[in-house]
Amino acid sequence: MSITKEQVIDALRNVDDPDLKKDLVTLNMVKDVEVNGKNVSFTVVLTTPACPMKDMIKRACENAIVYYVDKDAVVNVNMTANTSSQRTGPVLPGVKNFIAVSSGKGGVGKSTVAANLAVALAMQGAKVGLIDADIYGPSVPIMFDVMEEKPMMRDIDGKSYIVPVESYGVKLLSIGFFSDINAAIVWRGPVAVRALNQMLSEADWGDLDYMIIDLPPGTGDIHLSLVTAVPLTGAIVVTTPQNVALADARKGVSMFQLPQINVPVLGIVENMSYFTPAELPENKYYIFGRNGGANFAESLQIPLLGEIPLVQSICESGDAGRPVVLQKTTPQAKAFLDLAGNVVRQVAIRNSQPKASVV
Ligand SMILES: Nc1ncnc2c1ncn2[C@@H]1O[C@H](COP(=O)(O)OP(=O)(O)O)[C@@H](O)[C@H]1O
Ligand SMILES: [Mg+2]
Repeated sequence: MSITKEQVIDALRNVDDPDLKKDLVTLNMVKDVEVNGKNVSFTVVLTTPACPMKDMIKRACENAIVYYVDKDAVVNVNMTANTSSQRTGPVLPGVKNFIAVSSGKGGVGKSTVAANLAVALAMQGAKVGLIDADIYGPSVPIMFDVMEEKPMMRDIDGKSYIVPVESYGVKLLSIGFFSDINAAIVWRGPVAVRALNQMLSEADWGDLDYMIIDLPPGTGDIHLSLVTAVPLTGAIVVTTPQNVALADARKGVSMFQLPQINVPVLGIVENMSYFTPAELPENKYYIFGRNGGANFAESLQIPLLGEIPLVQSICESGDAGRPVVLQKTTPQAKAFLDLAGNVVRQVAIRNSQPKASVV
């Protein structure tokens, strides 16, 4: 008996996307089914190129064909992605998802998280941009080793656009490119919002799966104005485990939940969760207390997206302009890769749900 396309599709109805909790056929993720004797091939279109469950889903598809259709089938699954989006509106229609990285308090590692998240997503094949909107301390130029760069201009249809700088596969713009980093500038709200709007609307970003925005720390009026300037898919809130930081993180979460802001909080990132000395990479010392971030996330019923260790190499690589996630196999790189996987999963889950009505 020869295998039919219908049998292949029916078998794949038994494979669920673990996050979206529906089968691949219902989710319309199966394309281009071809059968030639015992040879079966098809394409699975995931909702993100950075899907951490890519290999697992692929294996489940292969097993389903062998189990439900023909034990001698030779299965060839082509895994691709078309990043999901719920974007509408005129601001940068080529950008599928805007993700804000915020913190209630400065110095908790917000920029470190934003930079490593952006690089991690680019390493997985996503098209990524990063806007450094931290008016108090832009750090993207240092962290990406592009301090000497000045963005060029390009004319498109008679209008002049800023060309983002590119480093480690991430397109970048920073408030730091447009001001002397050492100059003490008093950024008032309207100036900061204008700068952010310029980096959004007057730059040639092209098509992006994810645009990460490194916001200034805090929850004041300037932050509210900045947050409303961007059509955000969601926000992540970075904190350290101490109670003082968690209290500020709570304010950060509340800001996004204000009715006039109404931005989904994708989750919490606990940075400096534990200390690991370079010479004892397996040891974990919970110097700021244990599970602060996990308990906090649970109390707010928001996912904990990652726990990042306090290690010297994270600080050193930030200063050296080479984000630590590039060291792929180290535990600290793995912590950022896991974080990135959890962020895109939450984005995909959000995009699969009906859009919350804006109040
Ligand atoms: N997990 C970490 N381990 C070691 N150093 C860190 C870690 N996270 C951040 N740092 C360092 O702490 C300082 C503040 O981090 P940064 O990301 O600039 O914070 P923020 O943007 O919240 O002000 C930087 O020098 C950074 O390299
Ligand atoms: Mg910063």
